[in-house]
Amino acid sequence: MIPPDELELVRDRDPEAEERARRALFWTFVYHLEPKKWERLASVEPIHPEALAAIPSARRALDIGAGGGRLTTHLVTRCDRVAAIEPSLGLASILKSKLPTAITAAGWAEALPIGDGWSDLTAACGALAPEQAILDEMRRVTSVGGLMLLISPERPEEYERLGWTRISLDPIQAPEHERWIDEFFGPPDPPHELVMSRRVEI
Ligand SMILES: C[S@@+](CC[C@H](N)C(=O)[O-])C[C@H]1O[C@@H](n2cnc3c(N)ncnc32)[C@H](O)[C@@H]1O
Repeated sequence: MIPPDELELVRDRDPEAEERARRALFWTFVYHLEPKKWERLASVEPIHPEALAAIPSARRALDIGAGGGRLTTHLVTRCDRVAAIEPSLGLASILKSKLPTAITAAGWAEALPIGDGWSDLTAACGALAPEQAILDEMRRVTSVGGLMLLISPERPEEYERLGWTRISLDPIQAPEHERWIDEFFGPPDPPHELVMSRRVEI
């Protein structure tokens, strides 16, 4: 979604805002109209092994913007119950067929269909800008003492400024892949950033 202040800049023909809007719409179209293409890209952008190693086990975990389940796959091996929230019905149905034990639901990070404090580990990969509505929702659904852990979120430097712990790992190389992936998406860039914050009661 494009925030209202960004839309205002686009209306004023700000060239940088126009470019940001083009990029945001490109990815939204891919997730909703070409979910299988996104899955091909995700398969050649594996999550950094050290980022995976940093994910603790938990009773209940939530994957927000779960896509076809690149991160969910790892959550189901270490958590008792996993809920995957994804707005693209195409991606959600791919995830459901790969990971039938995960609870899959349609939804947006700005209004999560999850009860207060349900999640002991609130996670996401390649998603979620540090916008107030999203930060408020992540905090609301996370149990007191629970962990919010995001792999390569949008604008990790802003999470850091908000006091989250940020770990930037050395980039890893994408595995061998077909040339159309580079032509369509640009060079694959496997996720290698981690930001984390524990929910404490104040
Ligand atoms: C880069 S993909 C990552 C998918 C998956 N987490 C993975 O690692 O493969 C971003 C995902 O976030 C979803 N998404 C985008 N905006 C969202 C929002 N506001 N709330 C929830 N999900 C969102 C997209 O539909 C897409 O599946």
